Amino acid sequence: MLQGTPGRVNEFYDRHPISEARVLAALARQGLGRPGPLTADDLFEFDQDHYGGLAAVDTLARRAGVGAASRVLDVCAGLGGPARFVASRRGSTVVALELHAGRAAGAARLNRLVRQTRVTVVRADATALPFRPGAFDACLSQEALMHVADKPAVLAECHRVLRRGGRLAFTDWIAYPSLGDRERRRLWEWMAATTLQTLDSYCGLLGRAGFTSVEAQDLSSEWRPIVRTRLALHRALRERGVARFGDAQYLEYDQLHEFFVGLVEDGKLGGGRFTATR
Ligand SMILES: C[S@@+](CC[C@H](N)C(=O)[O-])C[C@H]1O[C@@H](n2cnc3c(N)ncnc32)[C@H](O)[C@@H]1O
Repeated sequence: MLQGTPGRVNEFYDRHPISEARVLAALARQGLGRPGPLTADDLFEFDQDHYGGLAAVDTLARRAGVGAASRVLDVCAGLGGPARFVASRRGSTVVALELHAGRAAGAARLNRLVRQTRVTVVRADATALPFRPGAFDACLSQEALMHVADKPAVLAECHRVLRRGGRLAFTDWIAYPSLGDRERRRLWEWMAATTLQTLDSYCGLLGRAGFTSVEAQDLSSEWRPIVRTRLALHRALRERGVARFGDAQYLEYDQLHEFFVGLVEDGKLGGGRFTATR
């Protein structure tokens, strides 16, 4: 583990349903597991770990002004799905930065599988970016900063590695004032979510990190039906889940998942999209 790495984040993604193995299994089920020219497009149904699908990635890339000449950093890139989408659709070069060893290695292998040479994977912590100042034109991130306890640090790092005029665009979970301390603790224990911000407090942090032209949009009403549908899908695959994790662990996950969806439906938890200029 990297120094200072929150172990809870690693534990959560060690047993996360979106993994390299699951992507490959899904491809094999679809009959695409043969040797041959797989492309990034073949993975997109399985390698994205955020809400709103490819349209959400495209919106962020557009808001960050990403074009073919852009040097893009995807902060907390997961399996590299959004990075490959941006590289293949916009022609930009993308660094996919990811903390979890298995996910970073998986992202690199998936890049090789689809011959995506414009995407490079770097394993590192988002609060200590291993890049020189001004190295990027755009920083993107989706549903990930919720895991980073020190939000001022990650925003300061994005600011440092962006060139002047470069853009940061990200989506993340946001808290509403009615989210209680016990609920926050349970979110940490279940999904390693920490120091959740409100829409306004995130804007404040962005300003204090030195960003200008800060804009925020509440995405909660878009995300609400998605989380309910995901829970239903998870339940439809109950047999597979029990076979993989056992009855007790499946049940615990299911109850926590229900608790989480309840928070979203009760208006205690929601989503936000933020854009800002360096
Ligand atoms: C919900 S996933 C999103 C992945 C990707 N952005 C996507 O949309 O497909 C969040 C990712 O953030 C990564 N992560 C969490 N904390 C991190 C940190 N401090 N530095 C880098 N990556 C981190 C996790 O390992 C996980 O892969």
